[in-house]
Amino acid sequence: MSSVSDVRAELLRRSVPSSQPVEIELALGERSYPIVVGRGTSARVEEFVGSSSSKVAVVTQAGIPHTLQLEREVLLIQIDDGESAKSLATVQSVSSQLSRHEFGRHDTIVALGGGVVTDVAGFVAATYHRGVRYINVASSLLAMVDAAIGGKTGVNLPEGKNLVGAFWQPSAVICDLDLLDTLPIREWACGFGEIAKYRFLGVDDLVELGLQEQVERSVRTKVEVVARDEREGSARALLNYGHTLAHALETQSRLNNVDHDIRHGEAVAVGLVFAARLAYRLGRIPLERVAEHQRIVDSFGLSYTLPSWADRAVLLHLMRRDKKADGDLTFVLDGSGGLEVVRNVPERIVVEVLEES
Ligand code: GLY
Repeated sequence: MSSVSDVRAELLRRSVPSSQPVEIELALGERSYPIVVGRGTSARVEEFVGSSSSKVAVVTQAGIPHTLQLEREVLLIQIDDGESAKSLATVQSVSSQLSRHEFGRHDTIVALGGGVVTDVAGFVAATYHRGVRYINVASSLLAMVDAAIGGKTGVNLPEGKNLVGAFWQPSAVICDLDLLDTLPIREWACGFGEIAKYRFLGVDDLVELGLQEQVERSVRTKVEVVARDEREGSARALLNYGHTLAHALETQSRLNNVDHDIRHGEAVAVGLVFAARLAYRLGRIPLERVAEHQRIVDSFGLSYTLPSWADRAVLLHLMRRDKKADGDLTFVLDGSGGLEVVRNVPERIVVEVLEES
């Protein structure tokens, strides 16, 4: 099995240095917006700031290089690192700083960062003055292929991930691949887990593509799903493939006070293979398809075994509390017709598959 570093090196080697940036539209009527993918694209941020904005608040974290060229008064707000910063306390702190600086309803928030920043800043944008404009400048691979796109904003509660939030679309998303040059290797792992997921949402040749093409294909897949089902009435739930176990693992990791012992994309990688095993046990897919899941996850240098600290009884309890579940065990599962949401999966089978994971 290759390491995540090897996979990253190979991905960059396959990349075409002269690739031109691409602009992909997320078509949502009057709330449509562009997602710009390519090197050097954060230089374009000013063109997406509202014309009537006199101030821009850049919400970011220490350590994320801030080189954005903005032509208005800039208020820089830093939030803490890690999932624990995705909290109502952070939302209150950011909102208070906006208020203290007389940030108005026509001003614009720029979220410069990974998924924690885009989720928190997006939720502040959704709620401050009952909604202000915001732009996501994604600085992590995970944010570029998932978190920054589609207007899901929100924070965690001690009881679980993303339990408080809102749908609030940004005015633009910028995926500047230059920002990945300094991305820590564990964050690459995180992005790879989400990209691996898109393989099962129809991106067949994913593994052979270069960096810009992998991001672009992932974005196009997500955009197409969100345009069909913005508020997750049906198809959008499929984007959560592998996420039921992943969210439970992340929550357990936080409950154990080992924050960041598992990152979102790493947990998704485990969740993808778990979901495939579950689908196999339910007679939905053949064993070869489980092997294919393992091969794809492997090809990104990711592990698909449960971490040693995982407590299966706690995971079971947390999966019942998943947002998509209604107290039952609900998963997105593969099948002969592709992915679908499957409710009321028997607990006995879930427990058995957890035992062998
Ligand atoms: N991350 C899944 C979604 O945006 O729906």
